Amino acid sequence: METRHGIVIGDARGLAELADDAVELVVTSPPYPMVEMWDEVFGDLDCDVRIALESGNGKRAFELMHAQLELVWAELSRVLVDGGIACINIGDATRSVGGSFRVYQNHARIIEAFEQHGFVPLPEILWRKPVNSGTKFMGSGMVPPNAYVTLEHEYILVFRNGTDSRQLEPGADHRYEAAYFWEERNQWFSDLWTDVRGEQQTLDTEELRERSGAFPFEIPYRLINMYSVYGDTVLDPFWGTGTTSLAALVAGRNSLGYELEPSFVDVFRDRIESVTDLSKSVGRQRLSDHRTFVEQRRESGDGFTYESEPYGFPVMTTQEESLQLYAVEELAEGAVNEGWWQERVNAGAADESHWYRATHRPIDE
Ligand SMILES: C[S@@+](CC[C@H](N)C(=O)[O-])C[C@H]1O[C@@H](n2cnc3c(N)ncnc32)[C@H](O)[C@@H]1O
Repeated sequence: METRHGIVIGDARGLAELADDAVELVVTSPPYPMVEMWDEVFGDLDCDVRIALESGNGKRAFELMHAQLELVWAELSRVLVDGGIACINIGDATRSVGGSFRVYQNHARIIEAFEQHGFVPLPEILWRKPVNSGTKFMGSGMVPPNAYVTLEHEYILVFRNGTDSRQLEPGADHRYEAAYFWEERNQWFSDLWTDVRGEQQTLDTEELRERSGAFPFEIPYRLINMYSVYGDTVLDPFWGTGTTSLAALVAGRNSLGYELEPSFVDVFRDRIESVTDLSKSVGRQRLSDHRTFVEQRRESGDGFTYESEPYGFPVMTTQEESLQLYAVEELAEGAVNEGWWQERVNAGAADESHWYRATHRPIDE
């Protein structure tokens, strides 16, 4: 199996380089409005943002920042196939502007924007990193009534492009090979994720993670497995250090990204150096977790009716019988002048772009 991965260094507002129906899934995490680390990015996109913040008008700054994101959201329904899914990772912001503290509900504002652009909201996911510390309440006293709750969760907002689900040809092999395990379904399709770990983050330093606002690898990896099949292309218009492309490589899907900051491509290059090992270890971990699940179920006296065709171990449902995991075998820089890309991207319009081609082989143990 082959996949392709492209990065356009440039502005995602308008998504001008992308053809209609170019992608089947969007997974992204935009800069968060009203979170201070993104003030400069929003100020560069619209200088009125700076004026609003300096004059203490938080509500106006919030609206101006969302207006910039909306220039991307407005084009997504065009570039995403009918029934395709868009997953937006976003956190709300708490902040004092002009001497008054409040919460800025980014998730609510984004839901409003997507509905306006023809998307249908689907049940969302809340996630939070495991935390164990009382220090987060430092500075907050023990006396009522003027302390505030600490925001620790983020949202993954899920939207469908249009009213109807995506149509796939019945019995398509690539759909059944892309199945997930029954027990993964039970975990991934829960509306609350408290088990998202950071280990596969593969970003060297905490400082870089904070500077880039990268999300944990597990987030795009799960979403890609949940909402796309082999052969699909995943778009991240706010690509950052390319966690979505890394997850797409590991999951065996094509990917496309837009990023304003050219230096993040070097970070991505470092991250993909170990993608062969990463994809093997992620796939093998899933198989090993499944074997543990099988043992535990048998120990509790429950049996299985179905068997995996490629792996020979028991599975819960007939839909899992063809499930096949792949690992990256080879990754090389490619060219955009291939027919496959030309149907989807007019990268000639971009100042700078980067293209990769990967081959994947089945994980057989
Ligand atoms: C929250 S970060 C994304 C982090 C990413 N998910 C990762 O794991 O590294 C948002 C990114 O969007 C980029 N960005 C902001 N506005 C943009 C625009 N109009 N076009 C392209 N990229 C943009 C920023 O430079 C930043 O890297």
